[in-house]
Amino acid sequence: MTTIAILGNGRVGGTLATALTGAGHEVTVAGRAPGAAADAARTAQVVINATPGAGSLDRLTALREELRGKLLVDVSNATVDGPDGLPADLLYPRSSLAEQLQEALPGTHVVKTLNTMLFTVMTAPATLDQAPEVFLSGEEPQAKEVVRELLMDLGWRKEWITDLGGIRTARATEAAVLFVPHVIRAGGFAPFAISIAR
Ligand SMILES: NC(=O)c1ccc[n+]([C@@H]2O[C@H](COP(=O)([O-])OP(=O)(O)OC[C@H]3O[C@@H](n4cnc5c(N)ncnc54)[C@H](OP(=O)(O)O)[C@@H]3O)[C@@H](O)[C@H]2O)c1
Repeated sequence: MTTIAILGNGRVGGTLATALTGAGHEVTVAGRAPGAAADAARTAQVVINATPGAGSLDRLTALREELRGKLLVDVSNATVDGPDGLPADLLYPRSSLAEQLQEALPGTHVVKTLNTMLFTVMTAPATLDQAPEVFLSGEEPQAKEVVRELLMDLGWRKEWITDLGGIRTARATEAAVLFVPHVIRAGGFAPFAISIAR
């Protein structure tokens, strides 16, 4: 059993909270009420960022003390959105939110994952017609092992989980968000995960 704080109570945060609670973890969800994120992060072993990517760096940097020594799982995408509200560009070109977070929070192990799919797939990967893939990016192997176990609790099979390497590899998965508006325009809001066919 892991004590988990989820920051953000929207589609992603709510879906992850339900599934991780169902898997036997102790989950606290923090919305935007003042102090909620700090209180949740302070007592958790693992903190999941499921808030909008554009403000995530400021929000999480403000939690530096609460996040010290913790595992921060970042599932967000930091984008500049178009008039239709869908991602149109990257907020951190030539970098990534995950790299910015790791640099701002040197006492925290940042692991990027789950940001390359519709939220429904995060907790139900076996429901797609083809085997999906989920990626891990992070500097600390032990932290990535903890996240791998959590992914398996969410229904991800070992062979569907690809460790891409250090935190810099997150710029590849974060850039994949640029597929999203086109995938949705082409196929509607049908569940999808961006994966490598082999
Ligand atoms: N939706 C997807 O399929 C998907 C897939 C992969 C990755 N992601 C990423 O996951 C993150 C969350 O996406 P989502 O679809 O769950 O978004 P969402 O449904 O809009 O939920 C965002 C949550 O963050 C909270 N929030 C917004 N501004 C905040 C602030 N300033 N301080 C604290 N909390 C704040 C919102 O609170 P309120 O309810 O009070 O506004 C809400 O609880 C985003 O970074 C997104 O890029 C989403």
